[in-house]
Amino acid sequence: MNGERMTAIKNGVKIGVGSVMAPAGLDPLVIKGDFPILSRIINGHKLIYLDNAATTQKPSCVISALRNYYENQNANVHRGLHTLAEEATAAFEATRKKVAEFIGSVKPEEIIYTRNATEAINLVAYSWGRHNLKPQDRIVLTEMEHHANLVPWIVLAKETGAELKFIPIDGDGLLDLENIDRIISEDTKLVALTHMSNVLGTINPVAEIARIAHHNGALVLLDGAQSVPHLPVNIKEIDADFYAFSAHKMLGPTGIGILYGRESILQKMEPFLFGGEMISEVDFEKATWNVLPWKFEAGTPNIADAVAYGSALDYLTDLGMEAVRSHEMDLTAYALRKLSELDSIKIFGPMDSRLRGGAISFVDRQIHPHDLATFLDSRGIAIRAGHHCAQPLMRRLGVGSTARASFYIYNTFEEIDEFVGAIAEARRYFVNE
Ligand SMILES: Cc1ncc(COP(=O)(O)O)c(C=O)c1O
Repeated sequence: MNGERMTAIKNGVKIGVGSVMAPAGLDPLVIKGDFPILSRIINGHKLIYLDNAATTQKPSCVISALRNYYENQNANVHRGLHTLAEEATAAFEATRKKVAEFIGSVKPEEIIYTRNATEAINLVAYSWGRHNLKPQDRIVLTEMEHHANLVPWIVLAKETGAELKFIPIDGDGLLDLENIDRIISEDTKLVALTHMSNVLGTINPVAEIARIAHHNGALVLLDGAQSVPHLPVNIKEIDADFYAFSAHKMLGPTGIGILYGRESILQKMEPFLFGGEMISEVDFEKATWNVLPWKFEAGTPNIADAVAYGSALDYLTDLGMEAVRSHEMDLTAYALRKLSELDSIKIFGPMDSRLRGGAISFVDRQIHPHDLATFLDSRGIAIRAGHHCAQPLMRRLGVGSTARASFYIYNTFEEIDEFVGAIAEARRYFVNE
């Protein structure tokens, strides 16, 4: 397995693409070899996968970890007294430790397995929100939230009488913090925002916002679905109270997500779901709860996917998250430049790649995003088109939908050239240009 991972690393080698150079230490062409799906031919063309903000592809080591688990270790965790149960438990808990390390060496007890980022945020809304909010309390969000970090708070505000306030965005797709002291007030109990926007790509100044929130006595929840896969993240430095993300957006399997929670806060929270592993003792009419993190993990968990997620974390750790970020920043700068050369394209979000990740939303003035995505698919290029689960943001941007290309470790400059070339071709097809 280690051998498979190591093939992705080619230290010190620079690859040149025209005048653009990839950073040393990460070679997307070598990495591609670790991803069987990337050799697929789609509609007669080699697949160019640019839908990484929706989900990423899986390397062979993750696929084999999943298979290895079912072939050699499959058993239920924690309660077994036989060898398989002990091995399955050790593998399941080993990933928890890797996650804790990956996001800045927090305690494994602070890492709770969920199904995905959405469930992690809902866990906080149910367990913390329903016990800690009252009428007139304030929940602060931003205008760029994914529905996963909006709808749970809309429902909670309705139930508790709390009010929602939104930090606006400016014309560049950055948060407008001018009135932040009025928005995050002493009545604010929670500030919940995305670390990196899945539409605009914007990387938000989360440490600064956390400082202001804590100064006002509010907790901070960060939606890390787009940031943990793409940036080095240190939760202790950011000082977040909750942090949610999904394995499938960072080379891992679907069906496994993470909620980080500060231990002192998790200790005081009631469980979200009841039964199974979250129990300590049960009598006919009462029950007590297990210790952290299992207090929040009712029933048989998603063992196999958690185990395979460990291999995804190893893969990213071997590459180095600094190298991942650097490669994506270069790809993003290149794509922004190439796209802006097309007069018909309007790009949303910051144009400076240092302020953003590699999810680029754009519209063509004459071609509907769905038509564009379908045309690109006919050339083997996978992008996304739609509202990206951010309908209020779409309204704020004055569009119904956008096209979105999003990059990861296996994407190359040549693929961006082909993608931009295919948009020009689409214009010849649809607009007769
Ligand atoms: C910013 C952001 N938050 C939350 C989510 C939800 O992730 P999941 O569907 O894995 O729960 C996504 C998924 O696209 C996202 O981009």
